[in-house]
Amino acid sequence: MPTVSLIHKNLQFYVEEGEILFDALDNQGEKLPHGCLAGSCGACRIEVTEGAQNLKAPSAVEQNTVESIKEHYESKNGKGSLENRVVRLACRARVFGDVSVKPLK
Ligand code: FES
Repeated sequence: MPTVSLIHKNLQFYVEEGEILFDALDNQGEKLPHGCLAGSCGACRIEVTEGAQNLKAPSAVEQNTVESIKEHYESKNGKGSLENRVVRLACRARVFGDVSVKPLK
């Protein structure tokens, strides 16, 4: 059974393989920041610090939203500030193995 570690809280959750990350944690009482829950607002953005390969590849909708998030983030924090960092949407990402994440502020 895969685990999701919230590194900013030092918490770890077991999740069903293939579950959406946000839903899996919400079902266990841990609510991540969120908005639309449909992949378009970006409020549930997370940084995946370990195990990014264990998430299903992003859909076109998720990819477009993540690109917008990156542009906005780098305009505020400097070009390249997200280089080599993996950004995903908790409401879209399906978990197939162990991952470590934290909300991207
Ligand atoms: S909650 Fe809006 S994109 Fe995930």
